[in-house]
Amino acid sequence: MTSGGRSGGLAGVVVGETQVSTVGQEGHGLTYRGYSIEDLSSQSTFEEVAYLLIHDELPDASQLADYKAELVSMRALPPALKTVLEQIPADAHPMDVLRTGCSALGTMEPEGGERSQTWVADRITSSLASMLLYWYHYTRDGNRIDETAGGDTIAEHFLTLLGQAAPSELTRRALDSSLILYAEHEFNASTFTARIVTSTLADQHSAIVAGIGALRGPLHGGANEAAMELQSAHATPDAAEEAVMGMLGRRELVMGFGHRVYRDFDPRSAVIQEWARQLSEDRESMQLYEKALRIDQVMKREKNMFTNLDFYSAVAYHHMGIPTDMFTPVFVIARASGWSAHVFEQRATNRLIRPAGEYTGPMERDYVPIEDR
Ligand code: COA
Repeated sequence: MTSGGRSGGLAGVVVGETQVSTVGQEGHGLTYRGYSIEDLSSQSTFEEVAYLLIHDELPDASQLADYKAELVSMRALPPALKTVLEQIPADAHPMDVLRTGCSALGTMEPEGGERSQTWVADRITSSLASMLLYWYHYTRDGNRIDETAGGDTIAEHFLTLLGQAAPSELTRRALDSSLILYAEHEFNASTFTARIVTSTLADQHSAIVAGIGALRGPLHGGANEAAMELQSAHATPDAAEEAVMGMLGRRELVMGFGHRVYRDFDPRSAVIQEWARQLSEDRESMQLYEKALRIDQVMKREKNMFTNLDFYSAVAYHHMGIPTDMFTPVFVIARASGWSAHVFEQRATNRLIRPAGEYTGPMERDYVPIEDR
């Protein structure tokens, strides 16, 4: 049995056209609707990027102000959704909370009628942090927080709800930048999943819930959590190096390295590494960064492999005070905009996605009645 037959993992297979983003094209590491990730992450804000993805063009100043106000107005959760969130165990994985919360929202506010697809996209993008952190505080200490608090950006909303205090400027800017980096990435596994669901003419909540499910695994979004576990498991850079050498000797995957499309480097990685360094310096706590740096050097030296976005995101998120099991949920909050852009695009050009499999099982066999087996 091969790992997936002729086109194992669909590597290199073009499965559709898109105008949302390019990944790994020569000369352009990553672009969203033609804008480079370097320009967007250094000059833009997450709300501008979400608007670009969901509404097709960068907003002007007044459109951005209106958009931010709209997102703020969409933070409040329906009381029935709060009741659902209160029933989820405190030890549930936060990805499961978002998957369940988004699904429940879809039962209370189904798409259609006055709820256009852009309204649903904005509503989901805006309320994911509300869901996650309402559940988090309620199940930890019974505190029914005000889920609408926290400035006028998604980054500030998330950080304020998490820490129940206004975040520092550095933390807010770093999270905002990382949300831009995570917002969109062409036909990755979760986006393709969302497009497949959309291709059956299913609703948007179903597509996003499916995307969350696909993102959860450590080969995709869950890699940032797994990278943190490795970085924090060892006391010193030397110990981390020894552990990684052992993993390579056993041919184990080191999470946060490698990529299906990028061959030389992940253009998002340098940006997040710089935030990770700045946050570590600001916290006067370089230990985690130094261990990460050593693992990075070892992987380069031994396997000529490069970090992907998830590797230094772990260091950055840790120093933002984000619990490890919320790293991938932050990715969801960012990626909801990219998934939505692909849902719209799939709808506009839809044909049911239904590939073919190569059968490798037994050829025709005679049926044996159950009593004779
Ligand atoms: N650590 C160690 N070795 C790795 C590796 C990693 N993170 N990623 C790939 N390799 C190795 C593979 O084992 C394979 O070795 P082999 O040829 O000796 O069998 C070789 O590099 C080629 O990898 P391949 O399996 O073709 O990569 P892929 O395109 O199928 O998978 C990923 C891409 C991202 C799934 C893979 O690199 C991976 O699992 N990375 C870790 C998870 C991660 O960080 N995911 C987030 C992606 S943004």
